[in-house]
Amino acid sequence: MTAGTWSPTSWRARPAAQQPRWPDEAAMGRVLGELAALPPLVFAGEARRLRAALGEVAGGRAFLLQAGDCAESFLEFSADGIRDKLRVVLQMAVVLTYGAGVPVVKVGRIAGQFAKPRSSDTETVADRELESFRGHMVNDDAPDPEARTPDPARLLAAYHQSASTLNLVRAFTTGGFADLSQVHQWNQEFVASSEEGKRYEQIAAEIDRALRFMAACGIDLNAETALHQVEYFTSHEALILPYEEALTRTDSLTGSAYDCSAHMVWVGERTRQIDGAHVEFVSGIHNPVAVKIGPSATVDEVIALCRRLDPERSPGRLTLVTRLGAKRVPELLPPLLRAVRDEGQPVVWVCDPMHGNTFVSNGGHKTRRFDDILEEIRGFFDAHRQVGTWPGGVHVELTGDDVTECLGGFGDIVEDQLHERYTTMCDPRLNARQSIDLAFRVAELLRA
Ligand code: PEP
Ligand code: CO
Repeated sequence: MTAGTWSPTSWRARPAAQQPRWPDEAAMGRVLGELAALPPLVFAGEARRLRAALGEVAGGRAFLLQAGDCAESFLEFSADGIRDKLRVVLQMAVVLTYGAGVPVVKVGRIAGQFAKPRSSDTETVADRELESFRGHMVNDDAPDPEARTPDPARLLAAYHQSASTLNLVRAFTTGGFADLSQVHQWNQEFVASSEEGKRYEQIAAEIDRALRFMAACGIDLNAETALHQVEYFTSHEALILPYEEALTRTDSLTGSAYDCSAHMVWVGERTRQIDGAHVEFVSGIHNPVAVKIGPSATVDEVIALCRRLDPERSPGRLTLVTRLGAKRVPELLPPLLRAVRDEGQPVVWVCDPMHGNTFVSNGGHKTRRFDDILEEIRGFFDAHRQVGTWPGGVHVELTGDDVTECLGGFGDIVEDQLHERYTTMCDPRLNARQSIDLAFRVAELLRA
């Protein structure tokens, strides 16, 4: 941002990649007016708390777990679905907290993750050329032209689904569902559920001993707020800029602009152009923000993003989510880590081991191998160890449902099984057991 020229609308003067062509401008205008008058989904003070928590991550004193769907769905929306997803994240967080020995900051890809960037504007299904599916905030995934036409009413539906999702998440995380003893018991059940789980018996037993030790010291595990409530933040890709603009508000306490659609928003790999609309938009909001960094990113581009998005070098303001692919991390990550460190930019480094490791199976399913995911995380830790920087966290796509979308891991899903329960609308997600498996593996890496 050039000093003084940013406003919630200043992105409109820049090229905005990945925007749908909304067919009815008047309808769009009405919807945006309505959104601008609706209550914020989060409060600026909460976004500031997350920013402070991420400042701890930037300083090497905490770890970030950012996880959730690739794309939330209007159709598969239920209390059970939200509960099961939250449960997996809580289980992972306990394991990671123990492994890292530092607090784990929990951020969901949830309550707003409804818009998708696409590699192509159109796709051909059964000889018909259709507009690409861009997430339920924009159009429907059904393969017919009507369903694929962008509909602004979907922005309002996304807002309302985000509100009810957030309401339930807040109830679960403060109402007893997040009880540490309970979450630990789920993990013990996971460990006991199969031969593969036994591999993690030792870590689970150590956590168990830690809990008994606290109880023996006279800490009432049921009365201690920190042990049965968690703070859980929301995030999504800030892709559809008119929506983000409409939810941007001036905080009455500080006079600063906050995008109140989520605590944290990120700019994707396809929209991170330094002079583009997305970077302009997030440059002026005061939320913590993130940028995805793919294998084509140069050192100069990354430094330019750091200067632009965190000119004050404020720890917690900027998170860089690298998604380089398992094979290329060792070569590509260390130079970025060194350059950013030498520049004095205090970023949070997070590993997204999903998006650089996607391929299409023989049966035509977009998938990812558990082993590649783990390999990218291992490469991420190695690179940080080599450079002397802090591996701040992981960013994964998962669901609480028992899907068959990623290969390997707990239950060893093979290619022939992918069709059985393949329900994602976009990218393949780890299922609940694969996710917990991954958390135990990452805990092992953190302790190594
Ligand atoms: C995503 O996170 O779902 C995504 C599209 O990621 P990226 O921008 O890294 O490709
Ligand atoms: Co994705």
